[in-house]
Amino acid sequence: ARTPAHDSALAGLRVVVSAGGTREPLDPVRYLGNRSSGKQGYALAAEALHRGAHVTLVTTASLPDPVGADVVRVETARELQDAMTAAAAEADVVVMAAAVADFRPAEYVGTKIKKTQAAPGEEEPDDAPVVRLVRNPDVLAGLVHHRDELRTRTGDPDAGPLVVGFAAETGDETGDVLHHARAKLARKGSDLLVANEVGVGVTFGQDDTTVHVLAPGGRVLLTAGPTTKAAASAAVWDAVEEALRG
Ligand code: CTP
Ligand code: CA
Repeated sequence: ARTPAHDSALAGLRVVVSAGGTREPLDPVRYLGNRSSGKQGYALAAEALHRGAHVTLVTTASLPDPVGADVVRVETARELQDAMTAAAAEADVVVMAAAVADFRPAEYVGTKIKKTQAAPGEEEPDDAPVVRLVRNPDVLAGLVHHRDELRTRTGDPDAGPLVVGFAAETGDETGDVLHHARAKLARKGSDLLVANEVGVGVTFGQDDTTVHVLAPGGRVLLTAGPTTKAAASAAVWDAVEEALRG
């Protein structure tokens, strides 16, 4: 076991981390989901606990609870938003590591969706349903908005939590991972953005990851990896500590 890091700037602070991929139900037995395992969020929670923070973990995943964390279980983006908004009101640092579904089924069917059965000898009916999607709330943007409102209302430029976003990026013909991450940071307005390099077989559910931590304006504070999610988490908290110290 490692010795507690008593000199950490996180010691005694209240930290909220979201983890896992949201599940958006179609009916009582089916959902739209994504490949997020939740491991990065759990690793972040474990490292924050190690550094002496009080940790609330808002999660969709069923991994073992980090010892000492308050764990709040959610499924959908809207449940995650409610839990994060409530927890952020008392927090010093909020980290949105969850993979939140951008869209959810427009309608939830309260009973199991059934296919019509063909009579023996008849052709299979052409009865495939069309699933219409609607946008989910942007939880991270909402947290930033709340915090900015609080700052305006109180006149205190340091009121509210430090907000950290994540961005899973692959890079494409329009730009590389950092290009997309910088654009996302500008759009979201978070205090830090952790850009996660993803690709086929990379990061989602895997143990090794590469992260770049960006500050407003797009400066790369640090890069870690390819390395374990535990080591990447230490790098993220190092960057948060630096930001907290100003
Ligand atoms: N996020 C969120 N709520 C959403 C979608 C994303 O809070 N409805 C958060 C994620 O937790 C992450 C950050 O926003 O911290 C970036 O998520 P990402 O999916 O990379 O960005 P999007 O803005 O959704 O853009 P896109 O998926 O189109 O790249
Ligand atoms: Ca998204």
